[in-house]
Amino acid sequence: MVAVAILAAGRGTRMKSDLPKVLHCLGSRSLVERVLDGATEINPLRRLVIVGYRGELVKEEMTRQGDRYADVEFVEQTEQLGTGHAIQQLLPHLKGFEGSLLVLNGDVPLLRPATLQRLLETHREHNNAATILTAQILNPKGYGRVFCDGNNILTQIVEDRDCSPAQKQNRRVNAGIYCFRWQDLEAVLPNLTSNNDQQEYYLTDAVNYLSPVMTVDVDDHQEILGINDRQQLATAYGILQTRIKNDWMAQGVTLIDPDSITIEDTVTLEADVVIEPQTHLRGNTLIQTKSRIGPGSLIENSQIGENVTVLFSVVTDSIVKSGSRIGPYAHLRGHAEVGAGCRIGNFVELKNSTLGDRTNASHLSYLGDATIGTQVNIGGGTITANYDGVKKHRTTIGDRSKTGVNNALIAPLTIGEDVTIAAGSTISEDVPNDCLAIARARQVVKHGWRMKARSSETET
Ligand code: UD1
Ligand code: CA
Repeated sequence: MVAVAILAAGRGTRMKSDLPKVLHCLGSRSLVERVLDGATEINPLRRLVIVGYRGELVKEEMTRQGDRYADVEFVEQTEQLGTGHAIQQLLPHLKGFEGSLLVLNGDVPLLRPATLQRLLETHREHNNAATILTAQILNPKGYGRVFCDGNNILTQIVEDRDCSPAQKQNRRVNAGIYCFRWQDLEAVLPNLTSNNDQQEYYLTDAVNYLSPVMTVDVDDHQEILGINDRQQLATAYGILQTRIKNDWMAQGVTLIDPDSITIEDTVTLEADVVIEPQTHLRGNTLIQTKSRIGPGSLIENSQIGENVTVLFSVVTDSIVKSGSRIGPYAHLRGHAEVGAGCRIGNFVELKNSTLGDRTNASHLSYLGDATIGTQVNIGGGTITANYDGVKKHRTTIGDRSKTGVNNALIAPLTIGEDVTIAAGSTISEDVPNDCLAIARARQVVKHGWRMKARSSETET
């Protein structure tokens, strides 16, 4: 039986922010969400988050995510008197609990679930009172130093600021990730004192009281990076991006100039996708095989089919089916759905519109709240007037119809199949199938007409 507790009560003074540190985002998710999601992969029985500084806000943000965190138990630490004091707040909540307590720092977001698994396995195998995650790092400044014997049995942890100069030389650091036999920890928690440089109750002191305590060295020390300031937040973002991009390249995706590309960990790519420079893929996005995205594109919460190209364009909350070409400089948003083999060209904006297969809108159009059939040609400068100042209205265009250049389509409006609309027309009434609609002033030519010279111009 495993319960997970996350330390998330600190303000994070060095972030210089109103927002509690654990609510700062690393890519698409906040630090505390990342830590919690990572821990969830080991199937804990209970999930507890210890909140303090603006705890209401942390709770609110997490409950906003719907069911995902419905079972999370929030534990209040009203005053932040140290990591040991934070864990003391669990005492009434975990009364009678028998099992392992996994303690994670809410500001260590890059930990891999496999590492947690290894920590748990070692803990169980050796029947330890506690097992702690450690790393040997080149610059251990700021971290608690861990001393152990040849068998990875811990002898002492000392916080950086309480270390003697000789102790500071030790490069093995405490990652802030622990597995405790809860009943043993429960027994020593009341004995903590704040007799140290920070006058805080240290969780590390509880570790010092327990035995046997074993250490597990993490293989990749980047996993234990703690976020205390914005520079570390940026460093963590870089590490995360490198991981994600290396993963996709290993799975057959080509990234041209990966340093200029960002891909959130919620994105799915198929083999033989090519991502060109300065392209950003976010949210719940899927890009299917042989598609080429970029350069200079942003795709968010969208499904891109096979063999699609997207060039210098923005696509959000939309669907593009196979073989379509988008851009340059197109904007698809608000549930636009583009069929197969379409072409959406320069300066075309689609919003909440559906386009059938092989339909083209190549130049300078706005199609909002429209349902457009297959093989339709949208003339350059066709604009749906979908908003009357109060309500949005739909425009429907049947299969194989052609709008002319500079058409204004005043919704609500239904244009039939096989219709042609003359250039420059403003269409405000429905058009049946198989016809030509012209709605523009007839051109008048006055023969022999010349502007009368104004008297001031003739005077010399
Ligand atoms: C802690 C460890 C240190 C370890 C480092 C790893 C202690 C005493 N030290 O130091 O050995 O190397 O993490 O990153 O534990 N928090 C609370 N309530 C509090 C204080 C802190 O919830 O009263 C939370 C913070 O929000 C944060 C986490 O605990 O998420 C760690 O606190 P922080 O102050 O950053 O500890 P470190 O000094 O980094
Ligand atoms: Ca820290």
